[in-house]
Amino acid sequence: MKKRVRIAPSLLSADFSEIGRQTETLEKAGCEYLHLDVMDGIFVPNISFGQVVVRSLRPCSKLIFDTHLMITDPERYIKAFADAGADIITVHAEACPDPAGVLRGIRALGKKAGISLKPATPTSAVIPLLEYADLVLVMTVEPGFGGQKFMADMLPKIRELREAIDLSEREIILECDGGIDILTAPRAAEAGADLLVAGSSVFRGDEAANFLLLTAAANAG
Ligand code: DX5
Ligand code: ZN
Repeated sequence: MKKRVRIAPSLLSADFSEIGRQTETLEKAGCEYLHLDVMDGIFVPNISFGQVVVRSLRPCSKLIFDTHLMITDPERYIKAFADAGADIITVHAEACPDPAGVLRGIRALGKKAGISLKPATPTSAVIPLLEYADLVLVMTVEPGFGGQKFMADMLPKIRELREAIDLSEREIILECDGGIDILTAPRAAEAGADLLVAGSSVFRGDEAANFLLLTAAANAG
């Protein structure tokens, strides 16, 4: 049976004066994941939010907090995000000298460990790490900003990683992040992604309706 593809709305595109209400609305619409983009202004040329926002949201939501750390030397903050209530903590392969050690550290805190790669990073940077990972995140835009165009040339990378994950016979979520809308969601799903991050295409107007439309598009194939 075909696996159902999930949409993870990215809080980055939400209205920050309304995030409690917006996440509740999404949860009521059947959403399971909330993608939390953490940016330090060094690894990426933008600053977003940190663990205090995760901690404030935690008591209001049962959503799976899918935390995407776009920060240099993320090992310094793993415990802070785990304590704040993150469920999945994803770090960038390019951001740490010993990604396997960081992934092991995340699991040791009882959290799911994710590894992400920027568009220019080859799959060979993460394939040797699959045994330490619960999630692999393929960036389909340059990390740093919402609202960018989907890089279709990343589709072969998604396919390659789908194959490597299937071959490993491990339970690893394959996530794709950046430029997902109703046209690109089916393409990423067809290439083998299980979880699609969507920021601007969800928080543009009615977030629950957009979430449902994207879920339907991703599962239409
Ligand atoms: C970009 C972030 C994404 C971003 C996606 O660095 O990692 O999660 O919020 O936004 P959209 O869906 O608008 O491309
Ligand atoms: Zn992200």
